[in-house]
Amino acid sequence: MWRWTVLKRASACWILCLLLAVLLSNPVPVVCWNNSTLRRPRTDNSTVPVTLTVGGRHVRSYSHLQGNVRRRKLFSFQKFFLRIDQTGKVNGTKNKDDPYSIMEVTSVDVGVVAVRGLHSARYLAISKKGELYGARNYGINCRLKERIEENGYNTYASAEWRYRKKQMFVGLSPNGKPLRGKKTRRKNMATHFLPVLP
Ligand SMILES: *[C@@H]1O[C@H](CO)[C@@H](O)[C@H](O)[C@H]1NC(C)=O
Ligand SMILES: *[C@@H]1O[C@H](CO)[C@@H](O)[C@H](O)[C@H]1NC(C)=O
Ligand SMILES: *[C@@H]1O[C@H](CO)[C@@H](O)[C@H](O)[C@H]1NC(C)=O
Ligand SMILES: *[C@@H]1O[C@H](CO)[C@@H](O)[C@H](O)[C@H]1NC(C)=O
Repeated sequence: MWRWTVLKRASACWILCLLLAVLLSNPVPVVCWNNSTLRRPRTDNSTVPVTLTVGGRHVRSYSHLQGNVRRRKLFSFQKFFLRIDQTGKVNGTKNKDDPYSIMEVTSVDVGVVAVRGLHSARYLAISKKGELYGARNYGINCRLKERIEENGYNTYASAEWRYRKKQMFVGLSPNGKPLRGKKTRRKNMATHFLPVLP
């Protein structure tokens, strides 16, 4: 009888030790005791390595597009609000009341977002050729890698397409005209945007 108790105690101890080991070896607490620890902090920074994004590439279910929506305006370094109108045209406006500049930003993958014009219901998209447009339906052209640059501005690069191995970015010229992705560079201020509250 006592043997059994000792065994039971021993195994309980083992389980505890294992739990402790898991907890100590992992910087991010994966073992969640209650709901508040379950809720992972949302990374608005999104400075996560790109290599992790491969997974959800051909995801067919877009239910993830409904959660955790941030309503923002994308304010360019050159002081334009990015806008998407209902024809699918993307350009900039200085008018801070332009309803087409209100966007809904949703995380669709690690470091990858979808940006949807609230009033146009179109997704900010970069085609394979680097054209910037508002897509009616969510698709691979709408997957944008959001990254914080050193100056605190964000860049949005196509998560799908590259041109001569270089990334293609969402950009607005100094006159508020859309830039072709092939001409954009991460270091170029034309590709720098601040997500601001509408
Ligand atoms: C959840 O756990 C955290 C940290 O352990 C604690 O501060 C918090 O009060 C707990 N919340 C609930 C609802 O139990
Ligand atoms: C945790 O959250 C779920 C859903 O939000 C809720 O149904 C459940 O009661 C919560 N549990 C605790 C212990 O707060
Ligand atoms: C975002 O970045 C800042 C500065 O680099 C850091 O202090 C903060 O903890 C980060 N937030 C998240 C959610 O990662
Ligand atoms: C953006 O497009 C709209 C609609 O075509 C136009 O009225 C506006 O002048 C354009 N803005 C710029 C900065 O070119």
